Amino acid sequence: MKLQSRPKVFVTREIAEAPLAVLRRAAQVEVWGRPTPPPYSELRRKLRDADGALTMLTDRIDAAAIAAAPRLRVVSNFAVGVDNIDLEAATRAGIAIGHTPGVLTDATADFAFALMLAAARRVAQGDRLVRAGKWTTWGPRVLLGPEVFGATLGIIGWGAIGRAMARRAVGFQMRVLYATRSAPKRAETDARLAGARRVTIDRLLVESDFVSLHVPLTAQTRHLLGAREFARMKRGAILINTARGAVVDERALARAIRSGHLGGAGLDVTDPEPIARGDALLKLDNVVITPHIGSASYATRERMAAIAVENLIAVFAGKKPPRCANPSVALRPADKPREG
Ligand code: DGY
Repeated sequence: MKLQSRPKVFVTREIAEAPLAVLRRAAQVEVWGRPTPPPYSELRRKLRDADGALTMLTDRIDAAAIAAAPRLRVVSNFAVGVDNIDLEAATRAGIAIGHTPGVLTDATADFAFALMLAAARRVAQGDRLVRAGKWTTWGPRVLLGPEVFGATLGIIGWGAIGRAMARRAVGFQMRVLYATRSAPKRAETDARLAGARRVTIDRLLVESDFVSLHVPLTAQTRHLLGAREFARMKRGAILINTARGAVVDERALARAIRSGHLGGAGLDVTDPEPIARGDALLKLDNVVITPHIGSASYATRERMAAIAVENLIAVFAGKKPPRCANPSVALRPADKPREG
């Protein structure tokens, strides 16, 4: 009988080859090969015997899954957001949670800006009209929308992605307002953002032509924007969400758009994902919905995979992940080598 000292890692979806090869040199790796996530019961079964897991934002790592995984020392989430993981339960159990901040900032801000342009200038709607054979002529009143250039953009959440969105807005000569609950950690050093003005969320809603969300989903930000907030927004204003669907009360959003108060929305995230067939938002022509692809550029997804692997390997070397979502964790000791 041979003792297996290499840690076991469960990877919940196929990732780029090169980082996977690095992981395979450090651990025994099992990759879930299907294009859809492992069902929760299967995930729990796989974690029971794993030392590490490389998970996606679609994998629920809750207190019950953590309690049923006695060897687990690290969960490396292939995302910056960790709202799919019970951070407190993981920290109590001595499990480090890795994530991928930084590398997806620009890809996500690009996408948020693209959604803003698409929703304002009715890009998806125009495409649907052409494909349906309804493009009969050029018309002076066909698919009109508000101008983005020179408009006021309100950014909720002034982290890396919110600020990257603001930098793009500068090129469109937009007036930028931002709201953040946390006190800025340092003085603004980017001269391009010197014109951005910090205001309360209420002021931002009242004054912005476009409102873009860039906050993590937490107990405090769940349904941050609902009926009351939409009523405060300007008539015709457009909401952009590339953060998490549950930051918005989507039923209230659909009502605010259907009533004509809001001009539309660009949503890369919904609650739930995928959006339910028959959801009221799908019936609104002035809503652009994409399948959570804000960070989906080739380069960004490669970098996310590389970081997710680095985070795992660090823990197997006795360190905390370089990008750790629960840095106060006291790492659970490695379990005995298994027989194999
Ligand atoms: C994240 O990383 O949290 C994004 O939503 C997915 O790229």
